[in-house]
Parts: sequence; structure tokens; C-alpha cells
Amino acid sequence: MEWKEEAKKKAAYEATKYIKDGMVVGLGTGSTARYAIEKIGELVSEGYDIIGIPTSKQTEDMARQHGIKIGDINDYDVIDVTIDGADQIDENLNLIKGGGGALLREKIVASCSRLEIIVADESKLVDKFSFPLPVEVVKFGWSRTAEKLKKLGLKPRRRDFVTDNGNYILDCDYDELEYELEARINMLPGIVENGLFINMASFAIIGYKDGSVKELRK
Ligand code: A5P
Repeated sequence: MEWKEEAKKKAAYEATKYIKDGMVVGLGTGSTARYAIEKIGELVSEGYDIIGIPTSKQTEDMARQHGIKIGDINDYDVIDVTIDGADQIDENLNLIKGGGGALLREKIVASCSRLEIIVADESKLVDKFSFPLPVEVVKFGWSRTAEKLKKLGLKPRRRDFVTDNGNYILDCDYDELEYELEARINMLPGIVENGLFINMASFAIIGYKDGSVKELRK
């Protein structure tokens, strides 16, 4: 197995140690979070009573295949623990997410979670963000919305993809990505959500090339 896969798996498995019997668990999306789903499936087969709140249709399908009961987020005041991946993680544990197009549901689920654990291999740790920022926009007038994003200093390109919510994603290059852009982008008409996750991670669990796993906290 390539080191990154091993590192993702170790980080995701480590995060599942925070899951206790009877919990409501947010299920992230992507190639790292899928290892957590796999492990949660094992816990369920050992008798854990877990309700999973998926962050995408893909994750919901996978969770069902692993025997995890699926809940409707509307029915739970709080999600005990969510385990999700990230595209980049900076030194303040702020994130870029949405490479897999699931950022809207991921952000809603994160915002309702007591514990938001981010799992990743060490290649996701950066001093400065560089991953194109995914921005979910409604289809109506999307190219006009893209023009408004340009005025904020972003360089948007439309992804050939429709989200689970029926929207487009604009992947935005930039020279510098200030944290305050998270709020400024969301004020534009036509924007649904963006992939900057500021102060949302409780902590991160990182798998390293040398085989070790570490918890990073602020
Ligand atoms: C999904 O929209 C994303 O936010 C993922 O969590 C992110 O892209 C990380 O995915 P990988 O674990 O596949 O790198």
C-alpha cells in the first residue's frame, strides 16, 4: 500500500477511538473519511449502536453497505463526533474542503458537531493555503456570480460536476487566501457555501510517512 493510503487509514482508524456506543456520528466524505466509515462498520458489527449522519450521497451509500444506520440530521440536536477529511490544513487548523464537492453538507454537519475531527495524511499540512478554493453556487446566473468572485481577487473555473444539492462548484485560484474571505464570499447573491472552514476543526489526526500518527491541537 502506498504510504499515503496507509497514513490515511491509520489517522482515520485512530479517530474512531473517540466513538462510543450510542453516539450520533457525522460521516465525512472522501478517500480518508472512507476508512473511518469502514472502521465504524466494524464497531457496528461488534454491537455498537451508532446513528450515522452522512455528508454526501456517496458516503450514505457506503455507510449503508457497512451496516451503519443512517439518521436524518433534522432529528438530532447535536452530533457527538464527526470524522472528516480535508484538502489542506494550516497551522491554525483552518481548512480547505470541498475537493470532493461535498463542502455544503460537510460544513452543516461540522457546525452541528460537538467534536469535529479532521483526518489526513501529512501531505495535507501547509504553511499557506494553495489548494483551489471550492465555492458552491446556484446554477442560475453562475457566470455572473463568478464575475463577483473575481472582484474579491479569486480566479474561478466551473467544475464539470453537479453537487448533491443540485448546484455547481467553482474552483477558485488565488494569490493569497485571507480567512475573512469565508464570510465575504458567502455574502454574494448566488453563493451557497465555500470550502474555507475557519475555527471548525476541534483537532486533527495526521498520519505520517514514517508510519506514526499524531493529534494536532491549537
Ligand atoms: C469532500 O468534499 C472534501 O471536503 C474531502 O473531505 C476532502 O476533499 C478530502 O478528501 P480526501 O480525503 O479524499 O483527500
